Amino acid sequence: MYHVFSTTSSIIETNATATGSIPADTILVNCSLVNVYTREIQENIQISIKNDRIAYVGPNAIHTKGKKTTVIDVKNRFVTPSFADPHIHIDHFTLPSEFIKKSLLCGVTSLFPDSIDIVSVSGFRGFKEFVKQTQNLPMRFFHTVPGGLPVDRKFSHGKTLSLKEEKLATKNPSVIGLGEVFSWTKVTTRDSHTMKSLIQMHQNNCIINGHTAGASGKKLNAYISSGIFSCHEPINFEQVLERLRLGMWIMIREGSIRRDLKEIIPSVLRHGTYTNRLMFCSDGLDPVELSTYGHIDHCVRESIELGLDPIDAISMASKNCFDYYKMNNDFGGIAPGKIADILVLDDLQKVKINKIFLGGKLISSNGKILPSIKKSKLPSWITNTVKTPVLTENNFMIKSQKNEENVNVISMKSEIVTEKSTEHLKTKEDNILPSLDKDIWKVAAFDRTFGTKKHTVGFLRNFGAEIGAFASTWSFHENDLIVIGSNEKDMAVASNELRKSQGGMIIVNNGKILASMPMAVSGIISSKPIETISKQFLEINHTLSDKGCKFKKPHLVPVFLPFLALPDIRILYSGIVDIKKREFVPTIIS
Ligand SMILES: [Fe+2]
Repeated sequence: MYHVFSTTSSIIETNATATGSIPADTILVNCSLVNVYTREIQENIQISIKNDRIAYVGPNAIHTKGKKTTVIDVKNRFVTPSFADPHIHIDHFTLPSEFIKKSLLCGVTSLFPDSIDIVSVSGFRGFKEFVKQTQNLPMRFFHTVPGGLPVDRKFSHGKTLSLKEEKLATKNPSVIGLGEVFSWTKVTTRDSHTMKSLIQMHQNNCIINGHTAGASGKKLNAYISSGIFSCHEPINFEQVLERLRLGMWIMIREGSIRRDLKEIIPSVLRHGTYTNRLMFCSDGLDPVELSTYGHIDHCVRESIELGLDPIDAISMASKNCFDYYKMNNDFGGIAPGKIADILVLDDLQKVKINKIFLGGKLISSNGKILPSIKKSKLPSWITNTVKTPVLTENNFMIKSQKNEENVNVISMKSEIVTEKSTEHLKTKEDNILPSLDKDIWKVAAFDRTFGTKKHTVGFLRNFGAEIGAFASTWSFHENDLIVIGSNEKDMAVASNELRKSQGGMIIVNNGKILASMPMAVSGIISSKPIETISKQFLEINHTLSDKGCKFKKPHLVPVFLPFLALPDIRILYSGIVDIKKREFVPTIIS
């Protein structure tokens, strides 16, 4: 739980600086201050900083100037609080030390990560190691304990945290609450473990993040009345309004999985809706979109372009997040007593960042990060999590004595959405074959976390890419090894290569590797620089697109295949699941 004033050295020194009794460390002069408390821009403001906090804001800070005080003339540029992402998953692709190299330059100095996948693979020690990886970096991390695991108690098999571990986690001062509780039915049916977890979080003064996709009416009321006051799932204004009316806070999602801002902001403006309970969140960004679009700066820019008042947009990116997290005594605005996390902007409309201060220290100027960013050492166990045995083509065969079989098929409607269908397929040498003519591929899921050798092989329609195999050890939030392929031999090669690299994504054709993105940290994160992973990520997607994959983001196909929170049909190592009926379905229809 975050403690108010826990990071300051002394409120006495801040107080004394404000009166001029002791000198400031830094004074910013000629500021056009974006005041998120009064919704005005104040010209010619001076700001004095002592230690990590703002001590004085006013027309003349000369009384706080000493011999060693650094005076920075910002030349009438706009001075705003820096940005926060109130809900993000950063336990994918790159280590936090790499992710922040891009995110920071987007004006983001506070991240609220929900490290759900690292917990699903590596349990509590994975969570603790991930928190450790975020320490001593020029970025504030306010962690949430994953609240979405298990996704479905009947079928999920990834690691979870016990109630005792959740409580222990909250003792860490950088842990501020429970991450998205995305199975809202567990809340509305008062699932015993879920209720114990919520109550424990409330008792420890923690914030609980929500996820209410599809909930409305009395169920939504029951969810909120359990003390879960935010949601980042609304995809249209109607859903935003229903939740705002019930006292919720809305995080408008603008990230790699979905971009909802363009749909929501115009309606907010049309209806004149209060924006004081609206925020922006990414919910996760792949390294290429982070570079292409930006992060929360993009949300501010885009909203202003859509007609939102720049001060409202900046408040949504800063103040509102800290109001929601009850951290507004310390963060979210530029005023005495606040931590000096400050942006200096060349242009308010375009959100062009000139300087970034973190806790009063200048950490970025003209697009350069000033402090050196050091990566923490990784323990060996965390790069040794792919426990599948060496596989052969036999592991991918679906045995049948008949010449033909009727089978259940997972039809891909998009990278994410699936539909249950059936197909008639031929067999050869007692093995049911995929059919490229019908765009039917084999798909397999293996237990790679516990190494039980358990696996399921089924069929998938509408993948399109004419390759031998595409495999991934990252999949929401079970993290099975998922292999999609046109032939068993290449499927085995791809799996064994991922075993060698201890995780990642790989494309194989005729025994050769066409593209690969190794991610050895829990099989979901690379320890390489963000530029390397961006290049490999593009190669994976471009290769699949060039080979005929019908989807814009082919890498998401294996990622979402085991995701039990979405209809219609999913595959896990334990079987193929009909989500609506909540039952396993066989590959071969008897
Ligand atoms: Fe999320």
